[in-house]
Amino acid sequence: MKRYFVYLFFYSFISCHLSVEDKVYNSGIHIIPEPLQLEVRQGVFPISNSTTLSLKNGDWEKEASILMNKLEEASGYKLSFSDNSSNNCIRFKTNENLGEEGYEIEVDDRQISLSAATEKGMFYAIQTFFQLLPAEIESVKPLKMKLSVPAVKIADHPRFSYRGVMIDVSRHFFTVEELKKQISVMAMLKLNRLHLHLTDNQGWRIAIDKYPQLVEYSAVQETYNEELYGPCYYTKEDIKELVAYAGRHHIEVIPEIEFPGHSLSVLVPFPELSCSGGPFKSEQVFGYEENVFCVGNDSVFAFMENVLTEIAELFPARYLHIGGDECVKRYWQTCPRCQALAQRLNLRPTPEHSVEEQLQSYAIKRMERFISGTLGKRMIGWEEILEGGLPEDATVMSWKGTECGAKAAATGHDVVMASMADGLYLCAAQGADEVEPAAMGGQSYLKDVYEFEPLPKELAPDKRKHVIGTQACLWSEWTTSGELLEYMLYPRTVALAETAWTTPEKKNWDDFLRRLENMQVRLDLKGINYHIPLPEGELTTNKVFTGDSVVLEFKNSRSLPMVYTTDGATPDMHAPSLPERLVLHQPCTLKVCTKTASGKLSPIRTINV
Ligand code: ACM
Ligand code: ZN
Repeated sequence: MKRYFVYLFFYSFISCHLSVEDKVYNSGIHIIPEPLQLEVRQGVFPISNSTTLSLKNGDWEKEASILMNKLEEASGYKLSFSDNSSNNCIRFKTNENLGEEGYEIEVDDRQISLSAATEKGMFYAIQTFFQLLPAEIESVKPLKMKLSVPAVKIADHPRFSYRGVMIDVSRHFFTVEELKKQISVMAMLKLNRLHLHLTDNQGWRIAIDKYPQLVEYSAVQETYNEELYGPCYYTKEDIKELVAYAGRHHIEVIPEIEFPGHSLSVLVPFPELSCSGGPFKSEQVFGYEENVFCVGNDSVFAFMENVLTEIAELFPARYLHIGGDECVKRYWQTCPRCQALAQRLNLRPTPEHSVEEQLQSYAIKRMERFISGTLGKRMIGWEEILEGGLPEDATVMSWKGTECGAKAAATGHDVVMASMADGLYLCAAQGADEVEPAAMGGQSYLKDVYEFEPLPKELAPDKRKHVIGTQACLWSEWTTSGELLEYMLYPRTVALAETAWTTPEKKNWDDFLRRLENMQVRLDLKGINYHIPLPEGELTTNKVFTGDSVVLEFKNSRSLPMVYTTDGATPDMHAPSLPERLVLHQPCTLKVCTKTASGKLSPIRTINV
């Protein structure tokens, strides 16, 4: 809350001096994701207190209220409903031809019309409508601003139906409030799937009535300081609240329960579900784990079925994520129960697959039958579920790169591209290691996410429909707080939204950076701690020079302007611009940072010269 007030103060203060509409980041059209068709016309529609919201037969009242409430909250304008569509109105219209997520907007100087076939389509029309207004429309306190909507004609629908973000809540936990904040941003960006990685070797994060031991023993882990982390988990009420909030934002929450690997935290209270019998302790934040579920033990399947039954009741999403990745099969090789199962199934090693890989395939297929047959859901899993064959109905999440996804799509499976190799693992640093917080290793720049192409070139045209979308993943080993979560998520999630929604012909990196400046002000008003590139190119060590001058050269990953001081003062937005080559003749304390178009500064780097 404190941060909200700081931002509110900042924007109220600025707005006294320069009107909101005249801000450089509010000039032009700045919609993210870029719509499929956008035609800018002559003129504007001025919203005033006498503008009405025109509904026919009371249709779209819920959606119109979203628009009405936000206008009132941010600007003080109080619009009323009417059932005639005269001049000076915002009309809500049904157009059955616009599909599940499509919408149209038409603005001239007399009228605005928003059209869609579904509630979701109209919700997206409203998101775009807000982005036609100054960024300050995201304010939670009325600001003095003119609300002029530029005359446009927009016809829009997404390229991909699955547009997702995964958040790992096992390694570090994030509260319902922290997740709801991300959902409100995701909705603004027309993202529609939040995948929650609920369980792993480090912790089990959801209450299951049948197994209370899971929150008592599996939701707690030891830290490296030998303190306890947790218990951290979501109650069923938490999940209901989260799912309902996400539903109002047209976002499906997809739960992931890891099986058969990444399952050590379950084995702590239930060692009999392993091959070796334990006893076990959950992993600390990092670790490589060989103990996994024993697939030769039928109780393991009973456990999973009981858990998934409760999970399916809680999450209305069509998909249920079964994990399936990185299962270490060492114990299966010597476990009498696993080997007896292999014998019963008559498994023999083949050139492609070991007996144990075929055991994994058996276990995943068995879970798939339960998920689709009994629960009526679709199973989704990481790319390893493809090993040894898979029912056609299963959806594959391609994570190492896009190769496995291409292979899965070619054999008729739906695929979500979440490619680590292409920058979609947001746990990688978004700048040079020496200036960014500790991260996974390697870099994923904003431009990598923006330029990612989910459709593999080699995929035959008739198979392309199986690539249903793309997802960014935030593994939380390094992400110790909600603030850091946001720092890693944004603005790369903004780039992901355009990659997932907009056709390649309509994407334009330079124009995206222009629109991003506006979006970042919206993120500020939502209190989001997004990343601003830091000055790079010089190490933070004391610089010693023995001649009569030293030259320092900084750059940053988005070529943003940088400012600096040499007198030890903290630079502000009015500090001198940093030249390409900074020549210093005197010992000093150099402070340097990057500046956005709204005047916000990156963290400051300090170098003693
Ligand atoms: C994964 O990164 N193991 C899905
Ligand atoms: Zn076993």
